[in-house]
Amino acid sequence: MNDVADVKQFKSAEKAPGTVKYQVGFGNEFETEAVAGALPKGQNSPQKVPLGLYSELVSGAAFYAPRHLNRRSYLFRIRPSAHNLEFKPWDSGDFRTPPLDVPPYPNRLRWTQRPQEDVSADFLEGLLTLCGCGSPNTHSGLAVHLFRATKSMKNRAFSNADGEFLIIPQQGNLRIVTEFGVIEAEPSELVLIPRGVKFRVDLQGTFARGLVFENYGDPWTLPELGLIGSNGLANAIDFEAPVASFEGEDIQTQVIHKLAGKFWSVDLDHSPFDVVAWRGSLTPYKYDMRKFVAISTATVDHPDPSIFCALTSPAHAVSGCNADFMIIPPRWVVGDNTLHLPGFHRNTVTEISSIVCGLPIKNGVDMNGSIGVTNSWSAHGPDASAFEVAREAASLDPHRVDNLISILVETRYPMEFTQAAMDMKGYLPDVTASWSGFRKRFPDG
Ligand SMILES: [Fe+2]
Repeated sequence: MNDVADVKQFKSAEKAPGTVKYQVGFGNEFETEAVAGALPKGQNSPQKVPLGLYSELVSGAAFYAPRHLNRRSYLFRIRPSAHNLEFKPWDSGDFRTPPLDVPPYPNRLRWTQRPQEDVSADFLEGLLTLCGCGSPNTHSGLAVHLFRATKSMKNRAFSNADGEFLIIPQQGNLRIVTEFGVIEAEPSELVLIPRGVKFRVDLQGTFARGLVFENYGDPWTLPELGLIGSNGLANAIDFEAPVASFEGEDIQTQVIHKLAGKFWSVDLDHSPFDVVAWRGSLTPYKYDMRKFVAISTATVDHPDPSIFCALTSPAHAVSGCNADFMIIPPRWVVGDNTLHLPGFHRNTVTEISSIVCGLPIKNGVDMNGSIGVTNSWSAHGPDASAFEVAREAASLDPHRVDNLISILVETRYPMEFTQAAMDMKGYLPDVTASWSGFRKRFPDG
């Protein structure tokens, strides 16, 4: 909460790193004001909003969506978003939308982290699309982007009518300014920006990189827990939404807007982060993946990877999700008479996996930030050397995987790729060799 002195300085958004406050919960009816008395009482559209603010409704679901899935918030802001909009086309560089250059590919693909190189780019300029499926025009599928930034998005904001932005920092801390307030994020945390919400990404150091999943489908929500019961996986209480903060200065700001795969630019004569108070259930949020409550076998065999599902964008009960987001956190690995590795398999979904952080560097090779894509029905599992080690392990005692955070995203749709991804430094063209050399043991065992 801020006092009147802050109002006279026309800003409350600047806070020292580590001092940013949050509200907790997922899909709550939140209420927050940066200046006491900014929220109207008992209604959202009074004839005169307190402090001379404008009331603006932002709906992230159909007006009549079921109550538990409905997401909408009222923003009380210095100027309405409708003020002075006249967009012009903008060049998005390597930030792309399906259809892409390279059709779905049955080979298993993998990249190391995107090289640092000598680049000067903010978060938006530094986005490179790796792969994608579906279309924002039909609200299906998603795209996977890599970001690499060396500077903050100064006097620039981005809004995306095509999909939610799920941002996974892999290196470097981020300070994300949104219409709803400020979110700080470090590697091991994820940040969700809802469709259409304006935001900018500032760096807290000199370099940052990571992943973005752009979800064209229904908004991510928490999966049902079924027989697990009422607790576990990603608990709602561990999600953090921002508190209201604002920039009231009349500083020219460029807003980049994405619609149906095309990019547009408009110059505002003020900051779009001018929301002094808001209430509702539509909000950006962050989640610390170290808090994920992993559940697994206490006897034999591996449960399906869906047991790691933190967020889901559902589509079809049999064919599979639009997208599921899985977190594989530091955890104990337990199993009697069980191969202590996920087994060989083929399935209906495309899998995108990434090691976020915590993997020790071996022989000078850093695979943190690496990403692999396996299209649907492409066979995969442990490589030959890892399989041999696990098969011959002398002990099956429980062991702990420390520090390592991996993520897995599944979608029912086949992935297309960009030529830029295939040409990128870090692409590993010989990854298939890892799956050669399996011994023939039959019939002697
Ligand atoms: Fe798999």
